[in-house]
Order: sequence, then structure tokens, then C-alpha cells
Amino acid sequence: MNVSFSPTICEDFLNKLGSKSDYEALRQAAKNLGVPSLEENACSAVTNIVSIKQPAKSIDIGCGIGVSSMAVLKGFPYTHLTAVDGNLERGLFFQNYFKDYKNVSYYQMRGEQFLKTTEEKYDFAFIDTVKREYSGIWQLLKPRLNKNACVIFDDILIYGYVMCQEAETPYKYQSNRREVLNFIYEIFEDDTLNAQIIPVNGGLLSISLK
Ligand SMILES: C[S@@+](CC[C@H](N)C(=O)[O-])C[C@H]1O[C@@H](n2cnc3c(N)ncnc32)[C@H](O)[C@@H]1O
Repeated sequence: MNVSFSPTICEDFLNKLGSKSDYEALRQAAKNLGVPSLEENACSAVTNIVSIKQPAKSIDIGCGIGVSSMAVLKGFPYTHLTAVDGNLERGLFFQNYFKDYKNVSYYQMRGEQFLKTTEEKYDFAFIDTVKREYSGIWQLLKPRLNKNACVIFDDILIYGYVMCQEAETPYKYQSNRREVLNFIYEIFEDDTLNAQIIPVNGGLLSISLK
């Protein structure tokens, strides 16, 4: 039997499954504000990984208005979550939305700056910043991870262009594609790590320390 498969067909199928209500209010708010947020199926993947991992300390860098943070908290409500974003307005929304969460701390600053100054160590990290900055953030994050920590980088497939030749990639994505591809190779060639790409939405790069 010939079964045609494409990520789009897969997304459509997944979207028809299960309840979306848990993230709906925050994702709708992001839509109304015109700000980016973690997509539904990627939220579910993060929640599932966190619920298995049950991290004592988590960090969400590029937390935006907080959809990804909600995905983490849904996975393990007792985690101590540090959320970091460089954008002032999104930060104000975040702090208001999560004001009753005693286990959530917010920092309005660049993730790189936060990682250079913190002495904390984390069991789980979710990174959703500018994609070409992933390698630099990883270098700063690695010393701040506990043994067996797990890290997820969002949107690692750059609209699928990491799987294309440079000549097939529109000019505006070419340097992004090259830098993210180098980062993917850097991670997969590191023998101290377990790495996997989960092809939901824009693609999640999941890393765990051996
Ligand atoms: C795709 S949005 C994040 C969406 C968010 N994770 C959510 O699910 O609601 C990317 C965010 O990263 C922030 N950002 C980009 N580069 C950053 C950096 N180096 N440090 C901290 N935040 C950064 C932007 O301000 C933006 O809010």
C-alpha cells in the first residue's frame, strides 16, 4: 500500500486530536497581541517531556508572554521556573499573568546576560530565542546544567530549510540555516550528549546530558 505522508498532513491529524483548552487562553492572548508563541503540539511535547523528567529547577529563555512557561508548569507544577525575555512589554504581560505563581521568577534581560551572572543550576531548559544565537546560548547554558539535565531548543528546522541545500533556500534564510545547521552538527557530534530532533511544528531539538 502506498501511504503518502507529509509533516502538514501529520500536523492536521494531530490538531484534530485531544483537547486544546489548557493553552488556549494564553495562545489566544498572544494572537491578539500579535506576538509569537509556542505552537500547540510543541507545547504538548514540552509538557510530556517535563512530566517525565520532573525537574526541580527549570529555565525558559525567550519566554515571551509565557506559553512555553505554561507548557513547562503543566508538565510539573512544582518546578521552580526561571523565565527570561529581553522584551519589556511581553515581560509586563508575563509578570501579571503569573503573579500568583510563587515558584515562577521572571527576569527582563537577554538570556546570555542572565546565564553569565547566575550561579543557579537547572534540570530542564527550554530555549526559544533568535535561532542564530542558539550556539552561544548553549555554551553559556551547559555549565549551568545539573547532571542528567534535559534541554529543548525550539524551531530548529528553520521552516524545513535545514534539510535543503543552500541553493534551494531563499536568500533571507540562508545565513540562519547555515548557523543552525552548524549548531545541530555541533550537538550531534558531542559524545557527552544524547540528542534527538522531534519533528513537531517548527522542530524541537531535544538534548540530554549523559
Ligand atoms: C518566539 S518568541 C517566544 C515565545 C514564547 N516561548 C512563548 O511560547 O510564548 C521569542 C522570544 O525570545 C525573546 N528573545 C530573543 N532573543 C533573546 C535573547 N537573546 N534573550 C532573551 N530573550 C530573547 C524575544 O523577545 C521573544 O519574546
